[in-house]
Amino acid sequence: MVAVLLVLLKSNKLMSDNPCIFEDTCERCLRADISCAWCTDKLYEMRYRCLNHSQLLEFGCHPDHIYENEPKLHILEDSDVHDYVSANSQAVQVQPQRVYLKLVKCL
Ligand SMILES: *[C@@H]1O[C@H](CO)[C@@H](O)[C@H](O)[C@H]1NC(C)=O
Repeated sequence: MVAVLLVLLKSNKLMSDNPCIFEDTCERCLRADISCAWCTDKLYEMRYRCLNHSQLLEFGCHPDHIYENEPKLHILEDSDVHDYVSANSQAVQVQPQRVYLKLVKCL
């Protein structure tokens, strides 16, 4: 009885304000919130595969099998916009001009 209550309390804590937990595919999981991660570990026995990184580790998901939201954006070239100037003969119309962008894809 006490054990059942403890499990209930624990899962209540797990569910409350958890933006990840009800997502059932990797794509939906990573889209749900920046903190959500997806476990692809076949040996993982917990019912919820979409949790945050530390929760997945806590429930025994192997770190090599965790897909995370870690989009990267590096600005490589960021000159101010300006009209054509004869000195360098180029107008700059968008800013930034060059970026490195890495997105995460579920396999
Ligand atoms: C993971 O989620 C739990 C429960 O929602 C929260 O208490 C904890 O701070 C989160 N950890 C991280 C690293 O986001």
